[in-house]
Amino acid sequence: MTHTVNLVLNGERRAIALDDPRVTLLDLLRERLDLTGTKKGCDRGQCGACTVIVDGRRVNACMSLAVTLDGAEVTTIEGLAQNGELHPVQAAFIEHDGLQCGYCTPGQIMSAVALIAGGEAADIGDDPERLREAMSGNICRCGAHRGIIEAVLDART
Ligand code: FES
Repeated sequence: MTHTVNLVLNGERRAIALDDPRVTLLDLLRERLDLTGTKKGCDRGQCGACTVIVDGRRVNACMSLAVTLDGAEVTTIEGLAQNGELHPVQAAFIEHDGLQCGYCTPGQIMSAVALIAGGEAADIGDDPERLREAMSGNICRCGAHRGIIEAVLDART
């Protein structure tokens, strides 16, 4: 049985036919829609590499069934830059060397964008420890966390 899921994906209305209700948002994005900026790390909700924004909230796309998202607004890393300009969080990650291999970077950036847009980052203030905790769902195996936290602190202003 085919299910149709209506999404606003990176600002564009999409009606997507799913013939398998078990497909995750992550696999839908990467394998069906060629939006490979969202990364697959653990595929079990532990690393944050697959973080996207769904209706303003950070979501691990590997833990979210696409069939449950009818009517949702989904933003991926591909939806951030506008008119050839990087999103301020993307620019801050470059400015502060908030990456090394880059694999976790899309998830880190989407997480930071949601934190900032939702006001959580402002509530945290200038406390890097609290920000580290708020970003702890996004793991960087290269150990670039220092630059990541500096980037997020900078991007809030
Ligand atoms: Fe989804 Fe690791 S791939 S949390």
